[in-house]
Amino acid sequence: MKIVHVVGARPNFMKIAPVWKAISTLTDWIQTLVHTGQHYDDNMSTIFFNELGLPKPHVNLEVGGGTHAYQTGQVMILFEALMLKDRPDWVLVYGDVNSTAAASMVCAKLGIKVAHVEAGLRSFDREMPEEINRLVTDQLADLLLTPSLDGNYNLIREGIHPDKIHFVGNVMIDTLIQLKPLSDQQWVTLSKDLNIEKKCFILVTLHRPSNVDDAAQLTLLLASLEELSSNIKIIFPLHPRTRNRLVSQGYDFKRSSLHFIEPLGYLAFLALQAHAKVVVTDSGGVQEETTYLGVPCLTMRENTERPVTVTVGTNKLIGRDVHLMLQECQLVLNGTYKKGQIPLYWDGKVGARIVQALQLS
Ligand code: UD1
Ligand code: UDP
Repeated sequence: MKIVHVVGARPNFMKIAPVWKAISTLTDWIQTLVHTGQHYDDNMSTIFFNELGLPKPHVNLEVGGGTHAYQTGQVMILFEALMLKDRPDWVLVYGDVNSTAAASMVCAKLGIKVAHVEAGLRSFDREMPEEINRLVTDQLADLLLTPSLDGNYNLIREGIHPDKIHFVGNVMIDTLIQLKPLSDQQWVTLSKDLNIEKKCFILVTLHRPSNVDDAAQLTLLLASLEELSSNIKIIFPLHPRTRNRLVSQGYDFKRSSLHFIEPLGYLAFLALQAHAKVVVTDSGGVQEETTYLGVPCLTMRENTERPVTVTVGTNKLIGRDVHLMLQECQLVLNGTYKKGQIPLYWDGKVGARIVQALQLS
């Protein structure tokens, strides 16, 4: 069996790692890793390949940043050329980024089978570019591997044949379970470097266009976080999109009371999540990891495509309301917060279930 994996952006790397590992135990399967180059900085890409035990990409399409059409189009042109040279049996795509939808469209038109890892998630908000990518990818995929049962229901409702849908569980959690011990070892150095103690800081990540491309919302968010920082230290690893926006808005980093740092590797970031008092985020993956870790999470979004993190886990949807965010943080600081459970099949065996699903399809 010949498999090609396509990844491009930071959250894809945590998703491919367990699948890559599970397939590498099969002697008659050959796998190739294609990086689209959507993310390219060392701390948004290379570091994860090292930490997650992934090989150097066999091919890097080096598409970089750009408008949605540019990025999607570049991946399509370059990936199509690759697929025309050497057809695999399956192409595996991950998550909901532009690279995912682009590779799926190429395969659908060339008649190459596509398996979508993390299928079926829906925010029902088409203003999110990711929602468009999810809808397109799932309509085109031949095998839809869902992280939670809401994904199955969404796909059935959209007319996908049930035989194509396999509930496998959350693949990112395989990575978390495997690397948690290594991540724990990083805490000692990290806590010294950042001058923090367990449960004595808030961790913030923000990168959604709805928060950071809207100058008024970004200003409000930053002002509220600064207010909060008089009570507790705030550690804020800055996504490049957010950094760019803050720089162009003329944000005064030197006078800020927030502790900004560069994007972290997976092991260090996981250690910060595990020991944060509360995490304020708009990230998809962070909503899931905090649920697994049992750490309170406040999501600065009106909706989530990961509803089990709210119904089962520790996640609370705050919307874009900074006052609510401040109130909820204060509640957590006073000891009142949501206790969650771990959703079904978030158990570290998802890579193996994905291989089984491929064998059966
Ligand atoms: C992308 C995904 C988003 C995902 C996020 C994960 C889409 C539509 N968006 O958003 O779903 O949650 O990745 O982090 O696919 N940049 C750098 N260095 C990098 C990467 C990006 O400087 O290594 C800067 C560039 O200016 C780039 C901008 O960030 O134009 C945005 O990058 P892009 O990949 O287009 O979107 P993200 O906001 O990262
Ligand atoms: N992450 C990381 N370093 C950071 C911020 C996040 O390793 O500085 C990890 C995080 O643990 C999760 C993934 O990146 O595994 C989430 O990616 P991101 O928030 O960029 O994208 P999303 O999940 O929102 O699509």
